[in-house]
Amino acid sequence: MTTPTQTVHVNLAERSYDIEIGSENIDRAGPLLTGVGKVSHVVLITDENVQQPHAVGVAKSLVNASIEVDVLAIEPGEPNKSVDMAAALWEGLLELGTDRKSVVVAVGGGVVGDLAGFIAATFARGIRFFQVPTSLLAQVDSSVGGKVGVNLPGAKNMVGAFLQPMGVLIDTTTLRTLDARQYRSGLGEVVKYGVILDADLFDYLETNVTGLLARDDAVLTEVIARCCRLKADVVEQDEREETGVRAVLNYGHTFAHPLETLGGYGEILHGEAVAIGMLCASRLAERLGRIDAALTDRQHKLFSALGLPVDLPDLDPDEILRAMTHDKKVEHGKLRFVLPSRMGHVELVADVDPEDVRAALFSPR
Ligand SMILES: NC(=O)c1ccc[n+]([C@@H]2O[C@H](COP(=O)([O-])OP(=O)(O)OC[C@H]3O[C@@H](n4cnc5c(N)ncnc54)[C@H](O)[C@@H]3O)[C@@H](O)[C@H]2O)c1
Ligand SMILES: [Zn+2]
Repeated sequence: MTTPTQTVHVNLAERSYDIEIGSENIDRAGPLLTGVGKVSHVVLITDENVQQPHAVGVAKSLVNASIEVDVLAIEPGEPNKSVDMAAALWEGLLELGTDRKSVVVAVGGGVVGDLAGFIAATFARGIRFFQVPTSLLAQVDSSVGGKVGVNLPGAKNMVGAFLQPMGVLIDTTTLRTLDARQYRSGLGEVVKYGVILDADLFDYLETNVTGLLARDDAVLTEVIARCCRLKADVVEQDEREETGVRAVLNYGHTFAHPLETLGGYGEILHGEAVAIGMLCASRLAERLGRIDAALTDRQHKLFSALGLPVDLPDLDPDEILRAMTHDKKVEHGKLRFVLPSRMGHVELVADVDPEDVRAALFSPR
């Protein structure tokens, strides 16, 4: 049985669009696209893990809507979110006779979404873009907000643009083929939304652990729609990351980034690092007298139940601190963190003493 569809409207003046969330709704791609614009040619960008069956399903739906479809499938993986791959795709678009009336459709995880969006933002000075995110992380995070881009060899997401899509289609059943560890990693970001913005969502997650682990379509539709709504609310207030409102989304991330880079990209997944980072940030808030231990414990319990890691990997705390301050002298450089004040609320806290940060790396319990 298919679950009822939910629609999240992202309100950004003339760049407004809808995110449609449901199950077994891949065949909605064609009608959705033609419903928001005149489309005769699509370049569908995907990766080899997602091509069968998901990208093929999207392509069929587009063809049924009388759209001519060309498919470009890249090799999967973060290293391909590169300038070289962008150049290869630009050439590919050129060969396919892509023009300003064409639409780039991304079918895949965050790598494909960011890369394909960047291609759409730059080819012929910008063509239209539509997203079908297929990883949980892409469905609740990277496909909302309009940030697109590629990595430079030493700097993640260094080159990019803001480009809002014409629309986003999310099919929860695509998650059935996602690797279990990738799926759980996405749940890390889902829990984050609860802690930073929505105590009810956190309750819902606690109550629906079984459904989440079983990738139940109704539970996923509800959860993904709520996460998209929450991120859209933030993005609507601060579309281009200028006012600082978007900073709340970085809860756990200041701790997470060094874990990702020091562990070598790929060893620890982003959402796993975020889970550990959220617990560090929560312990820091405890140390600073902003919350009591119960709030950290609730997050710890939920992460454990969802199969996410809760302990810091075996890394040198000094190295973590150094990475956090980008090699600035830790003793002098004070740090800024997004810290919880109660379930569903966070605050930006400046001037944190590095010694408190170091202490927060380890669980006292
Ligand atoms: N633009 C933003 O605002 C934003 C926000 C967060 C993250 N990101 C970016 O997103 C990227 C990470 O995204 P990700 O975690 O989706 O990584 P990813 O795109 O590499 O996908 C993870 C893996 O899962 C595979 N996959 C995806 N969907 C699948 C499916 N349905 N079935 C089987 N396999 C599937 C992919 O081929 C890949 O091997 C990073 O590059 C990050 O910088 C962007
Ligand atoms: Zn993140």
